[in-house]
Amino acid sequence: MEKIHPSEITPEHVYMSRRRFMRGVGAVVAGSLLSACGVPQVGSPTETPATPDPTSEPKVKATADELGDPLTSFKAVTNYNNFYEFTTNKERVARLAEDFITSPWTVEVGGLVHKPRTFDIDDLRQFPQEERIYRLRCVEAWSMVIPWVGFPLSELLKDVEPTSKAKFVRFETLFDPDQMPGQKNSTFDWPYVEGLRLDEAMHDLTLMATGLYGKSLLSQNGAPVRLVVPWKYGFKSIKSIVKIDLVEEMPMSLWMAAAPQEYGFYANVNPSVSHPRWSQTSERRIGESGRRETLMFNGYGEEVAGLYAGMDLKKNF
Ligand code: MTE
Repeated sequence: MEKIHPSEITPEHVYMSRRRFMRGVGAVVAGSLLSACGVPQVGSPTETPATPDPTSEPKVKATADELGDPLTSFKAVTNYNNFYEFTTNKERVARLAEDFITSPWTVEVGGLVHKPRTFDIDDLRQFPQEERIYRLRCVEAWSMVIPWVGFPLSELLKDVEPTSKAKFVRFETLFDPDQMPGQKNSTFDWPYVEGLRLDEAMHDLTLMATGLYGKSLLSQNGAPVRLVVPWKYGFKSIKSIVKIDLVEEMPMSLWMAAAPQEYGFYANVNPSVSHPRWSQTSERRIGESGRRETLMFNGYGEEVAGLYAGMDLKKNF
């Protein structure tokens, strides 16, 4: 495997570790042999020069996910966003987030760990960066296919050494109403908080994303670092993280606090459990006409169903 010194890793120079992905998922295909193979897809090492026009389409070698679903365009991925800290209007997030300051940035990791640590972005880039193509299924019943760049959250958690008391991971987004006007809206109890069970957080598919389409994350997508949990509804994939705590009790997320009858802790994609106000059996893939059938665990059941063995997924929605 091609080796690269960690200091060479910059957001625009992506190193992909196929070995790690294979460990979590099973078989894997090389980027040059892409198409409909039954495993999550990985691309090839990518070096995309910075593009002055953020709407121009950067190239990655992969063109589809492991199911053969084509990538959603860069333009749609970066111009149709949910980021309530800025606005609830998906098409205005990109513009409102344009001046969001993402450097310097630190992520404080603590709570029930032996080695609490504050990481800056260069520290996070020391973890081997990979490209992973994941489907993103929003609870609002639209979806995209996105080539993320990032590293498994498990790598960061291993670094801080959770104690035996740690059972959950709690994530927090920056709170800065001067920069994020949506945080002046008191409908929500800011900052945005999300959580995972520790075994979900340690799962190899759970990614800390620092980029997409071979480029650093743009602010609208959660720069400089966000979570991506592909088998759960998109709202679990919290953006612009500043704090991660290992805790004993199930954390209360922003959405659980706002509407507990509508949004549960697990939020696994599940076509047989309707949202109280709409069905989850199908979805609109951005860039396509018509609707697609929604897949259990968003199509990642083979990898993650075991995490929920014996659980009532209607009750634990
Ligand atoms: N994270 C924060 N901090 N604030 C948000 O409003 N929206 C969530 C999630 N992460 C959100 C967030 C929702 S509902 C979705 S669908 C995804 O981000 C959208 O990610 P994208 O805009 O990069 O596609």
